[in-house]
Amino acid sequence: DIPVLCIDGPTASGKGTLTERVAERLGYHVLESGALYRATALAARAAGIAWTDEARVASMARSLALHFSGGRCYLEDEDITDALRAEEIGLGASAVAALPAVRAALHELQLSFRRVPGLVADGRDMGTAIFPAAPLKVFLTASAEKRAERRYKQLISKGFSANMEGLLRDLEARDLQDKTRSSSPLVPAQDAFLLDNSDLSIDASVEQVLQWWAQ
Ligand code: CDP
Repeated sequence: DIPVLCIDGPTASGKGTLTERVAERLGYHVLESGALYRATALAARAAGIAWTDEARVASMARSLALHFSGGRCYLEDEDITDALRAEEIGLGASAVAALPAVRAALHELQLSFRRVPGLVADGRDMGTAIFPAAPLKVFLTASAEKRAERRYKQLISKGFSANMEGLLRDLEARDLQDKTRSSSPLVPAQDAFLLDNSDLSIDASVEQVLQWWAQ
């Protein structure tokens, strides 16, 4: 039985960094499930398909030629790692992620990331829908202000322009969309451990998760 550790939470809560660090410490694989929704949104836009066109976006998601290698993400042969991080693609990801047929289309692909010796899965519904039997589920949160600040730094460091007020508005809109959708809404699993890292360093968050994992 290959163990899975789930880290779910809202946008810019620090899931990505926490997931990478924990996976590194355990020697496990990583599933950044948000990248699959982001890649779907990006591919749809490139193909001229509206993010609201459920049937066509879902068929796009089913045939997504996505590869991960050396920390980079490729669609066909194109390196889309940086393009995926654009704020607009985050909003597009949230839009396509609200479509049940798209979630169903990406379900199996997500399961396929579970390989020996183990997996750390980052997303919104890892613990509730994709790996409900996982032995450890963490629900990571932080205040909206802290999250906007983190997203700001992340975007600037990647060469995107950004403004704090716009980001705060975007992330609150995205949280609302993620929490209120009918299919796999963003909610903690019943057996999830809640971790608010507003005032916690990355190292302290990693240690907390590893301590839960060891129990
Ligand atoms: O980096 P950030 O947390 O902003 O976003 P992400 O994890 O890359 O996810 C982008 C969007 O994809 C989210 O706003 C969700 O709407 C959606 N998503 C989802 O519905 N389910 C997942 N397991 C992961 C992402």
